[in-house]
Amino acid sequence: MLSVVPSPITVRAPSKVNLHLGVGDLRADGFHDLTTVFQALSLSDDVEIAPAASLAVRVSGEGAADVPTDRTNLVWKAAVRLAHLAGRAPLVEFAIAKGIPVAGGMAGGSADGAAALVGLNELWDLGLTRDELTAVAAELGSDVPFALHGGTALGTGRGERLLPVLSRNSFHWVLALAKGGLSTPAVFAELDRLREHGTPPRLGEPQQLMQALAFGDPKQLAPLLGNDLQAAALSLKPELRRTLRAGVTAGALAGLVSGSGPTCAFLCESEESAVAVAAELAGAGVCRSVRTASGPVPGARVLNSESPG
Ligand code: C5P
Repeated sequence: MLSVVPSPITVRAPSKVNLHLGVGDLRADGFHDLTTVFQALSLSDDVEIAPAASLAVRVSGEGAADVPTDRTNLVWKAAVRLAHLAGRAPLVEFAIAKGIPVAGGMAGGSADGAAALVGLNELWDLGLTRDELTAVAAELGSDVPFALHGGTALGTGRGERLLPVLSRNSFHWVLALAKGGLSTPAVFAELDRLREHGTPPRLGEPQQLMQALAFGDPKQLAPLLGNDLQAAALSLKPELRRTLRAGVTAGALAGLVSGSGPTCAFLCESEESAVAVAAELAGAGVCRSVRTASGPVPGARVLNSESPG
């Protein structure tokens, strides 16, 4: 019998920014109930998956030295989980090319986890449906289902329950990458602490923001952007205030901390404006580096899907 070794598969997975991140109270399971509107951005990671003698992870690109290559990496967890479901051994090597900042509040680890699920489903010919993959994604982490889904979506629960949101046009963003990362649990814990000692503002419901997305007008969207975690991220990294001010001074319509930070995301009026804001921000000395991106873009998807034969 002819045995065919499958060719490597490359999957691209997007980063995300939370246009609205409303954080509820701490739950008994250690998570917080969220009401969030995610948008998937073109800043992305590529994950190549190839059959191998043993499970291994290699990482290159943006912040590679800070990414774990052991069982704590979400691609490793995804391989172990899917191999278990399929009744086979997780014999693959992952080569992750990072474009998404590490520990930056843009769900880079979740993007890699989602890429692993999509790629292994294809490499191992598992035939799992989107719903089945989403259920495994939610076990891996709160943001992994959105990295599968992409586009623009309303997230509730831990952020893992998703409904698509109508979004007209592309939006143009500038991302200010910070020196060092922030730990997501530490930022949530800081918000709990701030709430014990005072009343940091809480966002309302995102209805108006969703109308602005359907209308497709960045000027209408800009004043509606909001993130309950921003106060906590600023408390842990006060220098981000300067970054946020500098982006708006440079001509962005609005700026906010992305997710749990410390990346700051600036919404711009057009692609040309984003390029100009990025150039000015890069010269202002308020961040480690600057990227432009647009959204919404699709969720994790195979780039080389030609089938053999
Ligand atoms: O789900 P994920 O592993 O990405 O979450 C990392 C941590 O972030 C959790 O352990 C928790 O401390 C915090 N978190 C939270 N509420 C959420 C999502 C994450 O408190 N909805």
